Amino acid sequence: MEIIAPTDAGLEKAAGILASGGLVAFPTETVYGLGGNAWDPRALARIFEAKRRPAFDPLIVHVAGIAALDDVADLGALVPGARTAAGSLMEAFWPGPLTLILPKRSRVPDLATSGLPTVAVRLPNHPVARALIELSTGAVAAPSANPFGYLSPTRAEHVAAQLGDRVDLIVDGGRCPVGVESTVVDVSGPVPLVLRPGGLSLERLRSVVPGIEVLDRTDPAPKAPGQLANHYAPRRALRLVPPGALAGARPESRAAALVFDAAGRDRLGDAAPRFAAVRVLSESGDAVEAAANLFDLLHELDAGDYDEIWAERVPDEGIGRAVNDRLYKASKKT
Ligand code: TXA
Ligand code: MG
Repeated sequence: MEIIAPTDAGLEKAAGILASGGLVAFPTETVYGLGGNAWDPRALARIFEAKRRPAFDPLIVHVAGIAALDDVADLGALVPGARTAAGSLMEAFWPGPLTLILPKRSRVPDLATSGLPTVAVRLPNHPVARALIELSTGAVAAPSANPFGYLSPTRAEHVAAQLGDRVDLIVDGGRCPVGVESTVVDVSGPVPLVLRPGGLSLERLRSVVPGIEVLDRTDPAPKAPGQLANHYAPRRALRLVPPGALAGARPESRAAALVFDAAGRDRLGDAAPRFAAVRVLSESGDAVEAAANLFDLLHELDAGDYDEIWAERVPDEGIGRAVNDRLYKASKKT
């Protein structure tokens, strides 16, 4: 595995590897993706293998422009209301941290979609991702570049540490600015449904399509693949507590605390010395900054000399919902 800078020559090299069936990790605005040629079933199989990802969990196909979307998805197969909603969402939020579930074209390999009649499509807003997709095969399948179930990578070093030689090349584009994965919205049915909270907030989605609903995680019949509770998890145990509850915490082992803001750190009060380290997601209590720092800090704490991570939930609004979703899933590892 080699790490290169996103120079013209570097991108040419990466595109060549993708075109010949290899795997390239690359930055997007959300997290690093583990990319393979979306048209090549062998490359897709290598992605599942490299991540140790179960084959029932489908991939996101990344395109660089609306023209390529038509190669991947069949918008004409949507019911009229959904077609309007899909169009409005693309217009408002693409390129950006939004993935849409759409009817798939038959030429998209079944491996990409785990045999589903729908395909997840995203137009990322990161110059390196866009250039790479355009230079290679026009459609790049890319899950987050982490082993299945583990913390998502927001830096090239995270990918190198986690995947090593299971990836042929890593394009180092620095830190991912959004820091949590894209919001996944299923527009393939009559009512648009958020399957995964992410970098684009529900409030912003509803400002464009007010009728969007949110998948009910307490519903026992899973409507979305890949929604296993134990995801995004560090190796250390992560305990998730309500805001303010760390003040009463009595960790029995060497623990690190992760709080939302400076006020959260102050609230720790007498409990602070009981933690071996205290980290703050955003000093000023800015949810966008908290999301950008989330996986970075979890990687740091997971690599540190702690037995446990105790984290406080953040305010459940805007992108804070995605932060809470990731913390909740990280806490469910057993
Ligand atoms: O921000 C992101 O979305 C990152 C970057 C690299 O683009 N990618 C990412 O991919 O998070 P991944 O594979 O970790 O998550 C894809 C999610 C999974 O929850 C998967 O189950 C869902 O999208 N998904 C994919 N295809 C689907 C489909 N046809 N129907 C429903 N959900 C689907
Ligand atoms: Mg993932």
